[in-house]
Order: sequence, then C-alpha cells, then structure tokens
Amino acid sequence: MDSPFKDDALKGKVALLTGGGSGIGFEISTQFGKHGASIAIMGRRRQALDAAVSALASLGIPAIGFEGDVRKPEDARRVVESTFQHYGRIDILVNAAAGNFLVSAEDLSPNGFRTVMDIDSVGTFTMCHEVLKYLKKGGPGRTSSSGGVILNISATLHYTASWYQIHVSAAKAAVDATTRNLALEWGTDYDIRVNGIAPGPISDTPGMSKLVPEEITNKSMDHMTLYKLGEKWDIAMAAVYLASDAGKYVNGSILPVDGGHWLSRPRHLPKDAVKQLSRAIEKKSRTAPVGLPKSKL
Ligand SMILES: NC(=O)c1ccc[n+]([C@@H]2O[C@H](COP(=O)([O-])OP(=O)(O)OC[C@H]3O[C@@H](n4cnc5c(N)ncnc54)[C@H](OP(=O)(O)O)[C@@H]3O)[C@@H](O)[C@H]2O)c1
Repeated sequence: MDSPFKDDALKGKVALLTGGGSGIGFEISTQFGKHGASIAIMGRRRQALDAAVSALASLGIPAIGFEGDVRKPEDARRVVESTFQHYGRIDILVNAAAGNFLVSAEDLSPNGFRTVMDIDSVGTFTMCHEVLKYLKKGGPGRTSSSGGVILNISATLHYTASWYQIHVSAAKAAVDATTRNLALEWGTDYDIRVNGIAPGPISDTPGMSKLVPEEITNKSMDHMTLYKLGEKWDIAMAAVYLASDAGKYVNGSILPVDGGHWLSRPRHLPKDAVKQLSRAIEKKSRTAPVGLPKSKL
C-alpha cells in the first residue's frame, strides 16, 4: 500500500533502529528510508543484518548494519557511536528489539523473566541513555534547532492481562513507563520527543508466528469481536507520523495500533435483544416498590 505521507517527510534524517533487520523493525526501516531517511540497524545476527541492508540498498536506501546486543552497554555505546561516525548525525532512535516466547507463569524461571526484561526494558533504556548526547538539542551532529525523536515499540498485552505472557507484559509495561518518564524529563530538558507504539497482532512477523500459530489465530478470530490482524505497514505508518514533523506536538504518547483489539471481548447479548431486554427491565423497575430499604444494617 502506498504511503499517505510525502516522500521527503524524513528527508536528511538518520535513524538507528534496534531490531531493524526483521519483522516490524525492518518495515519501519524501509518506510523511513522511502521517506528520505538514512538507516542504521542493530541486531545480533550478522547474516540477518546483511540481508536487511542489501534489501534496503536495492530500494536505494542508504543503510548500514551493526552487530550488537542491547543487553550490553558497551555494544549499545559502540553502535550509537558508529552510527554517528558513519552518518555524522543521529535524529531518530527506534527501539524494536525484543525477546518473546509462550510460557505459563508457573513454568517460567526467574532467569527467563529477567532475560526478557533485560532485552525489552533495560535494553530500551540503555539505548536511550547512549543516544541522548546526540539527540539533544544542540548535540553533536544536530543541524536543526530542535532535539531528536525516540520511538519505543511496546505492546498492548499489559493493558489487561495476557495468557502465558507475564514476562513480556511486565517488560512492555516498563517500556511504556520509560517512554513517559523520558518524554517528561528529556522533552523538558533537551527538546527530545519520546513516544511509543503499541502494536496489536501483526501478520507475517516473527512475533506472531512464534506466539500465535495458525490454528490459534483462527480460533481467536471466532472469540474476539474486534480480532483482525494488522500489517507491518500499519505500524510503520504510525512510526513515520510520530517521527516526522506531523507529530511535532506529540510527546509522551503511546499509540496503540491494533484496530481496537485490546478492547475486544465477547458480546454477552445479541444486538437485537438489547432493546427488548432493556424495555423489560425498565418496566420491571417502574412497577417495583420504591423507598423501602432492603438492608438490615
Ligand atoms: N509481531 C507482533 O504481532 C507484535 C505485537 C506486539 C508488539 N510487537 C513488538 O514489535 C517489535 C518487533 O516484533 P517482531 O514480531 O517484528 O519480531 P522480530 O522480528 O523477531 O524482532 C525482534 C528483533 O530484535 C532483534 N533482537 C532481539 N534481541 C536482541 C538483542 N538482545 N539485541 C539486539 N537486537 C535484538 C532481533 O534480531 P537478532 O535476533 O538478530 O538480534 C530481531 O531483529 C518487538 O518489540 C515486539 O515486542 C510485535
């Protein structure tokens, strides 16, 4: 699908994306590139980075891949510095790197819980911390008079509760809290806008194929009124909006992009029956005696 944004919405910007070599992160890299940005992607697998960089290059998008683990502060520092050395500036950081697997709380070891917290939450904070000096207003390499932009990718799992996702729910709740707190502190002190995107279930992603295999997808659709899979494009368009000047007054927001899925619950009454039932209840309440206290207290 074509983008509704102008081709030059991110012209001249440099974006560093963790997890930018696959899934949602790669689509954001692609759309940022198509809107004029130069791309640096960070991930642990050299092969995946190389494949992503050549796919971007084939679209004419300047791209480079840096191997690194967001759990290691020295990797985070090296990748941020290498991005700056390579392009001479950094304008946007997207934190999309994450770990996930289905497991019941009972079977999850504290170590497994900690690993996901380390990648998603601590990793996000570490990357933000390392990039601060480049993104802040007046920082090295900044040519505009404003600060840069941070986008943290979370989820909607923790808005309610999610089966077999206690580790990710906790980690993404921490990511959202980090987004809001940085928006307050760094928005005020350094003119950096920090926002989040909370994707719903997105088709054709490693995340979905790991967590919701085909059989479960079909079953979920029967039970959830608003269940509809999103596309990576949907998340990337939200990212272009938030990273570009279109979102210049947006700071500290976490945008759910899930088609309203997290609000979904089974209908307890057929629509046709609502009028009839409420009329009957209304009638009953009018004939019921009033003013007599029922409590024995
Ligand atoms: N897919 C969905 O339906 C969905 C729904 C809600 C939220 N999300 C969120 O959207 C983001 C992308 O998800 P996705 O499904 O597209 O999955 P994905 O492609 O598997 O994204 C994970 C990426 O993060 C990188 N990564 C993982 N651990 C890392 C580490 N320690 N250091 C550096 N990079 C690391 C991976 O590359 P390497 O393995 O090479 O390091 C990979 O490129 C995630 O934050 C996810 O939680 C996805």
